[in-house]
This record gives sequence, C-alpha cells and structure tokens, in this order.
Amino acid sequence: MHKTMNIQTYGCQMNDYESDRTYRLFHDQFGYVWNDDPMTSDFVLFNTCSIREKADQKAMSTIGSLLKAKQEKPDMVIAVGGCMAQMKGKEIQKRFPYVDIVFGTHQWTQLPTLVINAQKNKQNALEIDLASWKNYKFLPFDKTKEPYAVRENVTIQNGCNHFCTYCLVPFTRGREVSRPAKDIVQEIQILADRGVKEVNLLGQNVNAYGSDRTGEIRFAKLLEQVAAVDGIERVRFVTSHPAVFDFEMIDVIADTKELCNDIHLPIQSGSDRILDLMEREYHIATYRRLHDYMRKKIPDLSLRTDIIVGFPGETEEDFQQTLDAMQEFDFDQSYSFIYSPRPNTKAAKWTEQFLPKEVCGERLIRLQALQQEIHNTHSRNYIQKHVEVLVDGTSKKQGEGWLSGKTESHRTVNFAGSMDTMGTLQTVTITEAFPNSLRGQLAQAHVH
Ligand code: SAH
Ligand code: SF4
Ligand code: F3S
Repeated sequence: MHKTMNIQTYGCQMNDYESDRTYRLFHDQFGYVWNDDPMTSDFVLFNTCSIREKADQKAMSTIGSLLKAKQEKPDMVIAVGGCMAQMKGKEIQKRFPYVDIVFGTHQWTQLPTLVINAQKNKQNALEIDLASWKNYKFLPFDKTKEPYAVRENVTIQNGCNHFCTYCLVPFTRGREVSRPAKDIVQEIQILADRGVKEVNLLGQNVNAYGSDRTGEIRFAKLLEQVAAVDGIERVRFVTSHPAVFDFEMIDVIADTKELCNDIHLPIQSGSDRILDLMEREYHIATYRRLHDYMRKKIPDLSLRTDIIVGFPGETEEDFQQTLDAMQEFDFDQSYSFIYSPRPNTKAAKWTEQFLPKEVCGERLIRLQALQQEIHNTHSRNYIQKHVEVLVDGTSKKQGEGWLSGKTESHRTVNFAGSMDTMGTLQTVTITEAFPNSLRGQLAQAHVH
C-alpha cells in the first residue's frame, strides 16, 4: 500500500511552486500518492502564508481541525511550513502539540529527513533557522515523473531586501537570494520537453534578479535566455518593483515574442506621501515614466497592479490620488487589499494613525468598482478582435465541448473546440464579454 499525502497551500504562487515540487519529490523518491482528503492522509503538509492577518487565521483553523484525525490515526505525520510557520513556529507548537514538524521558509530541502525522523522517533521538531539565509537551497527539479500542466511556475529568487513598512515578507523569507540562471534554464528546458508551453517566473522582486550573486546574469538577460528555450511559447513574471524595473527590461519584453504583453507592476498607492510612509522607494513620477515608456513600446499592454487601501494615515485626498492613478494608468486588473498590521513591521506601530474599519471597507469598494469599470471597458474592446489563446483546460461552467485558455494579456477565454488542441495556441474571435471572462469562436484551427 502506498502512503498518501495531502498539501494545504495558502498564499502566493511561490508557495504553489514549493508545494508542487515537494509533492513531486515525495512521490518520486518515497512513493507517496496524492490524497484529496487531509483527514485520511498519512502525511499532511501545511504550506502557510502570513501576508495579512486573515491568511494566518485560515491556516490556524484548518490545522486545528486535524486534531480528531490525528487522534484516530496516530501514525499520521503533520508538518506546518512556510511563512506563517517562520513567524509563529513556537506558537503553533504550543497551540497544536499534535503537529509533528514545524519548519520555516529555508528548510524545504530538509523536509524528507524531518518526516523520516518524525515517523521513527515520534519527536516533535521545530526548524525555523533563517540566520544562514545565504545558504538558501532551492528545491530539486530534475527527477520527477509526474505530468506537468500547460503553464507552470518556476521560482527564480527567494526573499526580499526592500522592507516596505507594511510588509512581512523580508521577515518570513529573508533576504534576496537568486537561483543560479543555469538551474532555471535547465528546469525550464525539462518542463518544455515535458510539454509545458508557458512559464511564470517567480520572486518577490524579480527585477533585482542576479544582483546578489557575483558573476550572475541580470534579469533582462535571464528573460532572453528563458524565452529562447525550445518549446516555450510564453513567459510571464511576478512580481516587479517600480524602483528596480527599467527601460532595458521593457525593451527586451517589447522585442521578444515569447515575453507576454502582460506586466504586473504593483503601485500600492497613488499618493507620494503614502508611498514615502510605505518606504516604497519611488514616487508616482517614477511610475509614470515607466508606464509611459511601456505604453509606447508594448502595443496592447495589459498592466496589472497591487493596491493597499487604508494604510495608516491615508486621507480621503490620498485615496483620491489612488483612484486617479487607476484611471491614468488604465490598469486591466488589480489585486487590492485593506491594510493589515503585521508583527515586526514599522507601520504596525503607528496605531494612532490606523483607520476605522468602515472607512477602509468603503474605500476598497469604491476602488474595486472603478477597477471593474475599467476592466469592462477593456473587455468590450476585445469584441470582434482575434486573439491568440493558449488552450489550458476545459470550461466546466459552459459544459461539454467547451475549452478554456488565456490570452497573452492574461484574459480567460472560453470557446467551443476539440480536446486535441489542449496545450496549443489557437486564434479565437471574441464574441462576448463577461465580468471575469471572454467568450469566442475559433477563427482558424492550427495545431502547433
Ligand atoms: N513583492 C511584491 C508584493 C508581495 S505581497 C511587491 O513588492 O509588490 C503581495 C501584495 O500584498 C502586495 O503587493 C501588497 O499589495 C499586499 N500586502 C503586503 N503586505 C500587506 C499588508 N500588511 N496589508 C495589506 N496588504 C498587504
Ligand atoms: Fe514586501 Fe515590499 Fe518586499 Fe514587496 S518589495 S515583498 S511589498 S517588502
Ligand atoms: Fe504569503 Fe509568504 Fe507568499 S507571506 S504571500 S506565502 S511570500
């Protein structure tokens, strides 16, 4: 009988990547098979996030719900890792004494040993050392036999050096460490050989790629090398930082077919005063300079962003400037959040400047309404246009015979077609626009 495992993943795409590679590692090396139900699994792994308070609460309550399963199945191994474990390791051990392993963001490669030890000697382990961040080890990638999806994430960097005053990431993941370019390219070549068509390069500050490693190539060069991998049709990357993004990178994106016209560049606020308080290291003028150059160089650019509302001390006027920025930069999509005070961060101490919940909630609604309006306008502009769609799945909502895929600009398109086209680029004529997706018809069938 194979042992079964389940991973509960919270947080960002970097966590998705780590969970995915960890499953492959346990599957290939120790024969674990996936089990959708954590309650009946032999090994349950929580890959946690701590970016906002809600993220913490969600994971804590699911960990809590495993008590009964563990009592009925004492051989079950429960491990809690990732960003929240890094921050609250001791607290997790205290609150949930039945958790076997608590490990931080820098212990992923030690996990197999920790699990074997837990099975052998039934002693709880706490491994959350961040001090030796320079020796950060990226997960192995070349052995897996499990199939891949059409689109896959690839982490190129861990950690962040910025210390924005609201953000916990530098405390959870430590300082920036770039993964060697030759490993990245080798992994992507393996993915391409296994049918992957699109890669999404991941890091908290990808533009700074390479700056921490002597002799390493920089981000623009890495983009070129990844785009040149045989079989890779599309490349995206998250997240860029406006203070580190530059014209050279924009030129490479503009000049390289595989690099998508889809850029995620978090602005966080439209007010210079708030940007200073956030210690974002740029002003709106900097953002505007990048924006204007991108619009000039990249036709049909789809610009996405992140925004925080209700940062300590944010006035109605500051918030208005954020709305203005949203109009001016014509974002196609934004991920917007109410400020959440995080332990250890500077802004969390400015309690006197905190805004009432209702003000934050109301601002978020106004911001999201404006974003939806802009998004809808863009959506209507797609109607009657031909777009290239990378077919990556079926559309359950539409029913039998419906396929689903993404445009280069990261829009979801549903259309009727044959399963044979899975993983290929198809030209689709857009016929209808919905709030979160587009619908179309195959313009011409060409299998790559
Ligand atoms: N490295 C990325 C952001 C990673 S976190 C960057 O610098 O843009 C993803 C998003 O979560 C951030 O862009 C920010 O908008 C939001 N976020 C981070 N900390 C937050 C906090 N304390 N409260 C609310 N939102 C937060
Ligand atoms: Fe957090 Fe700022 Fe680093 Fe982004 S750049 S991860 S927001 S500290
Ligand atoms: Fe969350 Fe850590 Fe990612 S805090 S957003 S999982 S870097």
